[in-house]
Parts: sequence; C-alpha cells; structure tokens
Amino acid sequence: MSVQGTSVLSIRDLTIDIGRPLVKGVSLELEAGRIHGLAGESGSGKTLTSLAVLGLLPRQARTGGSISLAGEELVGLKRRSLNRVRGMRIAMVFQDPSASLHPQLPVGRQLTDHMRVHLGLKGLRRGSAPSNCLRPFRCRTPKRR
Ligand SMILES: Nc1ncnc2c1ncn2[C@@H]1O[C@H](COP(=O)(O)OP(=O)(O)OP(=O)(O)O)[C@@H](O)[C@H]1O
Ligand SMILES: [Mg+2]
Repeated sequence: MSVQGTSVLSIRDLTIDIGRPLVKGVSLELEAGRIHGLAGESGSGKTLTSLAVLGLLPRQARTGGSISLAGEELVGLKRRSLNRVRGMRIAMVFQDPSASLHPQLPVGRQLTDHMRVHLGLKGLRRGSAPSNCLRPFRCRTPKRR
C-alpha cells in the first residue's frame, strides 16, 4: 500500500497572537512521501507557523485553530506529550547558519544528534544511523560524512 497522498500534517485556520495578531487563518496539508515548500515574503509568518507545529512559540503566544499530526491534535498539548512528538515524529532544522548544518561538523553527526538525544542510540547502531540517513541521497562515502 502506498502512503503517498496520505496527509501527515494538517493545519487548519491557524492564528498566532504575540501581543498582536501575527498569523491569521493559515491552512495547509502535508502529504506523506512528498517534499513541500512554504513560500512567502519576509515576516509573513513561515517561521512562527513552523514553531507552532513544534510547540516552540514564546510562552506569551496565543495559538488558535488546529494542527493535527497523523490525527493527533498538537495545539494545546502539554509539554510532556509534546516531548513524545518532538524529535521522535517531527523535527526542525533551525534557520541559523552558525548552528544548523555547520560546515565544520560532519553532516552525519548533525543529522543524527536528535537520535542520540531522543532514542539514546549507542555503539554500532549509532554508527550506522548517519549512513542510513545519507544513503537515499546517493552519498558515496556516507561513513566519512
Ligand atoms: N517572538 C516574537 N515576538 C513578537 N513578534 C514576533 C516574534 N517572532 C516573530 N515575530 C513577528 O511575526 C511576524 C512573522 O515572523 P516570522 O519570523 O514567522 O516570518 P518569516 O515568514 O519566517 O520571515 P523570514 O522569511 O524573514 O524568515 C513578523 O512581523 C515578526 O516580526
Ligand atoms: Mg523565517
């Protein structure tokens, strides 16, 4: 059975208010097995929308609408439940060139840091994780990357 076409993330009428309304009525659908891009002018709310999905908005932010990950509602989820989702089922590469995909650090290590934290991978399994991540991209020497 193909998962392509199945919706994994569904955002409905998302609103974010941080002292003033910053995101108004965003709705979008992410399908399994597909790569999506979110385009919009600077300041239009792309980062805030992404932070809302991971529950990483500032404490004073007020979020409305619905963010559903494979049927599980994320808006209003408690921190403990969010920790079960973040890093395990959904992750984010932050818009920070000094810390995200840093050119002086092996990309395999950076791709699997969250696995070390959330899954506690050790030894051989940890060593093979970067290779497994890079293989689909036809990287010839994944162990050295
Ligand atoms: N923590 C915050 N507190 C108050 N306002 C914020 C906060 N973060 C972002 N904003 C404001 O919310 C709006 C949307 O910002 P956001 O960073 O989501 O835009 P963006 O689409 O990601 O822009 P860019 O393309 O420049 O990355 C902007 O007006 C921004 O100034
Ligand atoms: Mg941004």
